[in-house]
Amino acid sequence: MTLQPDKPMTRYAQLQQTLPQAPKTWLITGCAGFIGSNLLETLLRLGQTVVGLDNFATGFQRNLDAVQREVSAAQWQRFRFIEGDIRVAADCQRATVGVDYVLHQAALGSVPRSLKDPQTTNDVNINGFLNMLVAARDAGVASFVYAASSSTYGDHPGLPKVEHTIGRPLSPYAVTKYVNELYAEVFARCYGFKSIGLRYFNVFGKRQDPDGAYAAVIPKWIAAMIRGEDIFINGDGQTSRDFCYIDNTVQANLLAATAGEESKNEIYNVAVSDITTLNQLFAYLAEALARHGIVYARSPVYRDFRAGDVRHSQADISKAREKLGYAPQFRIADGIAAATPAYVASLVASRP
Ligand SMILES: NC(=O)c1ccc[n+]([C@@H]2O[C@H](COP(=O)([O-])OP(=O)(O)OC[C@H]3O[C@@H](n4cnc5c(N)ncnc54)[C@H](O)[C@@H]3O)[C@@H](O)[C@H]2O)c1
Repeated sequence: MTLQPDKPMTRYAQLQQTLPQAPKTWLITGCAGFIGSNLLETLLRLGQTVVGLDNFATGFQRNLDAVQREVSAAQWQRFRFIEGDIRVAADCQRATVGVDYVLHQAALGSVPRSLKDPQTTNDVNINGFLNMLVAARDAGVASFVYAASSSTYGDHPGLPKVEHTIGRPLSPYAVTKYVNELYAEVFARCYGFKSIGLRYFNVFGKRQDPDGAYAAVIPKWIAAMIRGEDIFINGDGQTSRDFCYIDNTVQANLLAATAGEESKNEIYNVAVSDITTLNQLFAYLAEALARHGIVYARSPVYRDFRAGDVRHSQADISKAREKLGYAPQFRIADGIAAATPAYVASLVASRP
């Protein structure tokens, strides 16, 4: 069941009405990726002008093509794509010219990737982030929203996670995301530059890549179930996450970009505040696929815990609710139901 929107009209519902009347120019870095391409789709549907920057490190032309199919020709005309790298300062400068709002998503995600190659993760996630901050500051953008991460809570055991209480990072990836927050804070202090960091908690939804060594758990398991392959659970299956459907994340970005000055220079958790174990997730996905006639009869295969992973993760989202008007509309079951059909359509067709 979908969560009931707050009464009276939510700030997001108001925004969806007002944005098309006074279109702005948005820069989405990482726009060929999972979250970036979903932001792109929503903004184009709302009649906004969008500049996209991506180097296709982990994103795909097929995600941009999918957005093109979802929007009208007139909406697509308002999109300009720059193939470029955030590690190159000139690319960041070029992309920020004339931009009102920046949604900075480009980064190398994945804890295991950062353990294998900490230098590249550092270059992209820290040097690239700094390039984007400088370019956005010099271009005089109205707001700068960036993808932070729940990995910043590190080894702090407290639940639910509250923004001001963090632990020590557990991976190079977590270090980079924390350094982003530190740089954003210093830019506010030293240059009066305003930004908002959104700490995402396990986002999922359409166009999230199911393949590759660093795939996220939900698309990876859906693909394995459809293909009839083994599902591996790292640890005892009691590891838990606050899975957040992409539409909630898109909502948070739009609210943050257009927030009043009093809500800026802050960090916000973006999730649902639900807690789901990996064992529960396995059951939810199997049930969702069964509704599409796909029966997964195998049991999961348990193996060792994975290095760098936090054990439990659940967000306190009251700060985002109060200061941004964030009102997530999808709980995990709603999100799985919404995300499954696209995976079924593409993966069943490619089954051997
Ligand atoms: N998906 C999640 O659950 C989650 C959780 C916490 C934080 N985040 C953060 O959200 C952001 C988006 O993640 P996503 O899940 O959409 O991942 P993604 O890999 O699908 O998207 C990242 C995009 O950034 C691009 N990119 C990477 N390096 C680049 C570079 N040097 N220059 C230009 N573009 C570059 C990639 O090509 C890709 O299109 C990232 O910053 C990630 O760290 C995601």
